Amino acid sequence: GPLEEVSIPFYFGWFLLSSVQDKVRCTSMDFLKTLDTLEAFKKHMIDFTGKAEKEVDLEQYFEAKGTLHCTTKFCDYGKAEGAKEYALKPTVKDFYGSTFELSLSALFVTPRTVGARVSLTEEQLLLWPDDAEKEAASVVPAAASLPLGSRAHVTLGCAEGVEPVQTGLDLLEILALQQEGQQGELVEEMELGSLTYYGEGRWLLSLREPICAPACFSSFYT
Ligand code: A2P
Repeated sequence: GPLEEVSIPFYFGWFLLSSVQDKVRCTSMDFLKTLDTLEAFKKHMIDFTGKAEKEVDLEQYFEAKGTLHCTTKFCDYGKAEGAKEYALKPTVKDFYGSTFELSLSALFVTPRTVGARVSLTEEQLLLWPDDAEKEAASVVPAAASLPLGSRAHVTLGCAEGVEPVQTGLDLLEILALQQEGQQGELVEEMELGSLTYYGEGRWLLSLREPICAPACFSSFYT
């Protein structure tokens, strides 16, 4: 009967506690500010502007999108494939409302998005959908062969007209290049970590000290 129906949210995920949200936003802003001033970045500015000569202000280029979180399962109120199965998983029910410590291990920037890579622990992987990477294979073919959890990220900002779903795809693209053996071009040792360029406007900063971000596993309804 209707009372047994589960109400399926828009998405499930880990929601960063407010104290760490500010820290992550500041770190990301610092990174964008610094990246913008690097000669190596200026050399490839055309990836962002489409025009030589033109300058870009990265802090203005990206729009922040709501509260910082790492999506586990996008459910679209049950319309997304596998949504109901996910919502009914015992681990999802058991961990609902629990606090975890996410490790943000890298920041990445593309002409579309800026995000933080999340390196999941074995326990956190219990909440990760089996098909999250495979589902992206139509856009990033190599994604299906990447390890489970590769797509885990926090969207920090999107360029005008870009949807947040793009952030995970951008991350998968960079990880696929790494897996194919593309080292990228080590550009600079920054205070925050080492900066690598993967072509086509794709930048990855591996953090020297991963950011430990306490986050609550929960769900979002609009
Ligand atoms: P992300 O997890 O990269 O931030 P929106 O605001 O576009 O409706 O999306 C709500 C949230 O769900 C965002 O966090 C977004 O991306 C994520 N999301 C949207 N669509 C998908 C999808 N098809 N697959 C996975 N995550 C999605």
